Amino acid sequence: MTISIKKCTLDDLVLLQEIGVETFTETFGDQNSPENMKAYLEKAFNLNQLEKELSKPSSEFYLIYSKEELAGYLKVNADDAQTEMMGQDSLEVERIYIRKKFHKQGLGKYLLNKAMDIAAERNKAKIWLGVWEKNENAIAFYEKMGFVRTGAHSFHMGDEEQTDFIMTKRLHGEG
Ligand SMILES: CC(C)(COP(=O)(O)OP(=O)(O)OC[C@H]1O[C@@H](n2cnc3c(N)ncnc32)[C@H](O)[C@@H]1OP(=O)(O)O)[C@@H](O)C(=O)NCCC(=O)NCCS
Repeated sequence: MTISIKKCTLDDLVLLQEIGVETFTETFGDQNSPENMKAYLEKAFNLNQLEKELSKPSSEFYLIYSKEELAGYLKVNADDAQTEMMGQDSLEVERIYIRKKFHKQGLGKYLLNKAMDIAAERNKAKIWLGVWEKNENAIAFYEKMGFVRTGAHSFHMGDEEQTDFIMTKRLHGEG
């Protein structure tokens, strides 16, 4: 087995911080000012913040390994941990990041399938996420994985207000 997934515990905080900062910078560093990036990274990935998020019973983080090398991570939120009021029948993918050198090897799909398994186990009807409107690669990936655009919300990156598309995939049921 060359791919494995591990659920994070508080012992993984520093690892999560490292991969969180690395992948966020790789993904958004070129399209945002250094000041806004710095402000966001400090706010979102400081150890206190990560500990708070990891301690929430309705939030879970997972690390994905390829041949025992850390390749990416996933954060899912259920119930009131969701960043929008989507209801009890929804699961949010708040973060899904694969390190650049591991892109296009099927790992993103593997992690997203993990999120869908979690949603199915908990009898959720749908899975949803917010993606920056300019993140064309991720939007193409989500479309490939069966997500459709269902709305938008705003997001703060330092002092700049940005738009995230909300994309949703129904797991069962109508509508
Ligand atoms: C988006 C991301 C998670 C995709 O992960 P990945 O491991 O590269 O994707 P996979 O190899 O699992 O691809 C799964 C499918 O999506 C397709 N796909 C992936 N990226 C794509 C792209 N940029 N354009 C078109 N299709 C794409 C693949 O071709 C593959 O299709 P297949 O099943 O027919 O072979 C990854 O690129 C990433 O981490 N990006 C940076 C972080 C980011 O933007 N995260 C999302 C924030 S909202």
